[in-house]
Amino acid sequence: MAGIYIHIPFCSKACNYCDFHFTTSFKLKEQIISAICKEVELNRSYLDSDLIKTIYFGGGTPSILDVHEVEKILKSIHKNFRVSHDLECTLESNPNDLTKEKINGFTSLGVNRLSVGGQSFNDDQLKKLNRTHTGKQIESTIKLIQDMGIKNINLDLMYGLPGLKNTSWENDLKKSIDLEVTHLSCYCLTIEKGTVFYKMVKKGDMIIDADKKINSQFLIMREVLINNGFDHYEISNFCIPTYESKHNTSYWSGKKYLGIGPSAHSYNGKKRHWNIKNNFKYIEALRSGRPFYEEEILSAKNIINEYILTRIRTTNGVSLTKIALLTNQAEYNNIKKKLSQFVDESLLYYKNDYFFLTQDGMILCDKITSDLFLM
Ligand SMILES: C[S@@+](CC[C@H](N)C(=O)[O-])C[C@H]1O[C@@H](n2cnc3c(N)ncnc32)[C@H](O)[C@@H]1O
Ligand code: SF4
Repeated sequence: MAGIYIHIPFCSKACNYCDFHFTTSFKLKEQIISAICKEVELNRSYLDSDLIKTIYFGGGTPSILDVHEVEKILKSIHKNFRVSHDLECTLESNPNDLTKEKINGFTSLGVNRLSVGGQSFNDDQLKKLNRTHTGKQIESTIKLIQDMGIKNINLDLMYGLPGLKNTSWENDLKKSIDLEVTHLSCYCLTIEKGTVFYKMVKKGDMIIDADKKINSQFLIMREVLINNGFDHYEISNFCIPTYESKHNTSYWSGKKYLGIGPSAHSYNGKKRHWNIKNNFKYIEALRSGRPFYEEEILSAKNIINEYILTRIRTTNGVSLTKIALLTNQAEYNNIKKKLSQFVDESLLYYKNDYFFLTQDGMILCDKITSDLFLM
């Protein structure tokens, strides 16, 4: 059982906070699609003939693709891999790309889950983020998708935005609930090097809100969503029961995945590799048979750290038995001691062999994870 991620490195406009790999020039689009299909073929053995249960078009903005371009990629996947009949096939979209025709086209190819990048329903916030759509357009796009019979919809929202009022954040969450989306990914803004926001912060033109305020937005999010029937199944992810993202869940449970396209990452249990983060070089490397990725063979320590990093974020938790299986005696003692300290500090709790984050622990998840890492 495995998943395939396809990175589509194009966006119609650069958002002020984003450092994902993309370009706003579409001149290499056709060549990228061909290179992606070639990479699919070259990697046909990477997943050891495992059944493909999930395909995820991410980006960038996959919804800018024409239907026939998505079709070309899916055909090459079906030709080279064994694809499950109950495939989850997700496509990330920007609200103003999705027309009736496009949704029809994508779903007729087997796309059965749409992820909508909304970020906020507040038009002032959307302007600050340099988004291409309004709050109303998010609403109408979600309604359109639902009218066309798709219930499996994720909406991306962001909090921790400078100047975001708690009332405005609560309003974003309530609007999402009223819209009856079945999944919400709520990301806390991170200021990434090279972005417009990074430069603004450096120049003193933008001031990041205090941790206390951002943490209160995290707590509001949990309270509002849990009270309205959502499961908080991963730090940034909530779903109506049974609507978890199967694709992302497989990342967090250590399943194999193949990442195709510039900047995409892959993992097969033993090795991880990551593709060139440059469209032109990616195309040229695939055309000429030159290497288009770097790879790392995972050390025993990497595997333990990876296990902690991925499980602690989720409601699956970290198993002590599994830690014992992965570690030597000294490493086991070291990790167990730290886990117990976090329990004493009420940042973790222990139940039936598993350690889970408490609500206070969720706020400190990154620090707890790095403290648990073996160096
Ligand atoms: C890389 S985008 C791809 C989807 C699509 N292009 C869009 O913008 O909706 C996936 C999500 O990552 C989140 N994201 C990107 N940069 C972020 C940042 N610096 N801090 C927090 N969330 C971020 C946004 O919520 C975005 O919707
Ligand atoms: S958030 Fe999405 S649309 Fe905006 S630049 Fe990043 S990938 Fe592109």
